[in-house]
Amino acid sequence: MEENNALFEAREDILKIDEQIADLFALRFRAAETIAAYKIERGLPVEDPEREAFLIAKNAGRIEDETIRGFYPPFQNCVMSLSKQYQSKLMREDPNVIPVSLADNSYYILIRRGSLQTAKGELDLNRRVLVVTDDGVPEEYVKTIALQCKEPHIVTVPAGEGSKTLQQFEKLLGVMLEKGFTRSDCVVAVGGGVVGDLAGFTAASYMRGVDFYNVPTTVLSQVDSSVGGKTAVNHNGVKNVVGAFYQPKKVLIDPDVLKTLPQRQVSNGLAESVKMALTSDPALFSVFEEAPSMDALDLETVIRRSVLIKRDVVQLDEKESGLRRVLNFGHTLGHGLESPAAGTDLLHGECVALGMLPFCSESVRARLIPVLQKLNLPVQAVFDEDAVMEAIKHDKKGKADGVNVVFVSEIGSYEFRFLSFDEIRGSLELLKKVKA
Ligand SMILES: NC(=O)c1ccc[n+]([C@@H]2O[C@H](COP(=O)([O-])OP(=O)(O)OC[C@H]3O[C@@H](n4cnc5c(N)ncnc54)[C@H](O)[C@@H]3O)[C@@H](O)[C@H]2O)c1
Repeated sequence: MEENNALFEAREDILKIDEQIADLFALRFRAAETIAAYKIERGLPVEDPEREAFLIAKNAGRIEDETIRGFYPPFQNCVMSLSKQYQSKLMREDPNVIPVSLADNSYYILIRRGSLQTAKGELDLNRRVLVVTDDGVPEEYVKTIALQCKEPHIVTVPAGEGSKTLQQFEKLLGVMLEKGFTRSDCVVAVGGGVVGDLAGFTAASYMRGVDFYNVPTTVLSQVDSSVGGKTAVNHNGVKNVVGAFYQPKKVLIDPDVLKTLPQRQVSNGLAESVKMALTSDPALFSVFEEAPSMDALDLETVIRRSVLIKRDVVQLDEKESGLRRVLNFGHTLGHGLESPAAGTDLLHGECVALGMLPFCSESVRARLIPVLQKLNLPVQAVFDEDAVMEAIKHDKKGKADGVNVVFVSEIGSYEFRFLSFDEIRGSLELLKKVKA
């Protein structure tokens, strides 16, 4: 009887304790919501292993009975794990915080107006920072970032593709060495794809890799080149031939910086978004179709949807062994048209716009042409056909008697087709016939 009473009382105690635990559990998850909001605001990761270890050790010290204390770390780990799951769920719900999941190379892409001003809260700039930019990027952006760094060292290269060289790469390494950069320091790119590719490759190489943050300032770099970890310089006239896959620690996209970007550069970058929409996102293509004019486009939506498409491709094929080739849609002819000998004098995105036209079905082309025209992108061009063909044959993706191209029969899907060089030449004819 006494035993039964003792059991009953112990159960009553446990019931009350469990009630308190349930109340505390709810309180703890409420607190986790505040933490998640803070992390979303600053683009911080959910994981904070140092703090977790500290809290477990500290609280375990409160338990005097050694035997019971041993059970505490797994209990607390379990609570923390559930809390982190909840935080991740909340963070995924912020459409402007885009996680890129690549095992040890995972990172966040943050899209937020004004984030340049709050970069310090989002990037760890409390160290030596090599800030790489070019002389076409408005100085105010570079200064805004540099002012938030503990020890900034700004290097400004000349604007343009001509800066993606081993000479500029060497110059950046020289500055890092001279200023005593260690493995714990970092590189920040503030600029378009040229600066991002050059600075990223430098970060990948210095002391076998230091932290790299990308702050892209052109449409092309915000929707495309800052995502995916491809870094490179050109050499001996061959584009991107020396480089590395090296993921940034974070990408900070501030759409406000686009206000100073020349319209032609805006169109140039949007060509890459249209490319992604055609192969992968009919809803994004509708955004382009339905906008009454280029100025009326909701750029933030375009950036976010494009980043999501590229993120998804990169997550499935980080090192471009297969699927990632879909991103080359429009690029086979595009690279040919872009080669100096072709004589087009067009920007990369403009050449991609032209390069897409022959490699889609007639119905898709009929919808694509008005979109390109709305975005002030070319739908026909004057070019040296032999030079274009020569460049395509020398393209590193070329095979002996033809080339693999991405073809879009229906918006939102694609297939790979092998085309002979004669067929490619034929498609150029078609391109010349397309009327604006
Ligand atoms: N790594 C990748 O995955 C990847 C993908 C696509 C392209 N790329 C590379 O990207 C490069 C092209 O990048 P891009 O189109 O950004 O060109 P870019 O970097 O040359 O920038 C274009 C021009 O805009 C200026 N600029 C930059 N930001 C500005 C701003 N906010 N306001 C006013 N002017 C500004 C620059 O000074 C430059 O003159 C090429 O080298 C290409 O190979 C890389």
